[in-house]
Amino acid sequence: MKIGIGCDHAGFLLKEKVIGYLRVFFGEPHDYGVLNEDAADYPDVAHPLSRDVHEGKLSFGILICGTGNGMAMTANKYAGVRAALCWNEEIASLARKHNNANVLVLPGRFISRETGINTVKAFLQTDFEGGRHERRVSKIRIT
Ligand code: RB5
Repeated sequence: MKIGIGCDHAGFLLKEKVIGYLRVFFGEPHDYGVLNEDAADYPDVAHPLSRDVHEGKLSFGILICGTGNGMAMTANKYAGVRAALCWNEEIASLARKHNNANVLVLPGRFISRETGINTVKAFLQTDFEGGRHERRVSKIRIT
């Protein structure tokens, strides 16, 4: 499983914690930056990661900014990306089961590091249910 992760300045500290978790349980992720808490523009990170998900170079992406909204808005511009803003385990699990989300977006300024890790864990350990959800997901289109 190839996992990419990226953040802006508001998501940097949580990203470092998530990378520590991923290294132990999923191997080294591809880090799209940023690499410190200096002010950064979230699209500069969201675009390259999302392009790689869209092109099938990554199995999953994880993006973190302050609210998660800027990262989610940018990522969902790519036809092959289904980015879900999640702030707890249950929402992350449902984003996989029902929406077949392939990019997890976390609101770094609004969740604890523990909740962030647990949300990542739930996302990566849950499979898409298919069935009626496959039909619904297939109706999501870029217009
Ligand atoms: C940065 O201040 C903040 O705007 C950004 O992290 C994010 O929340 C945008 O959606």
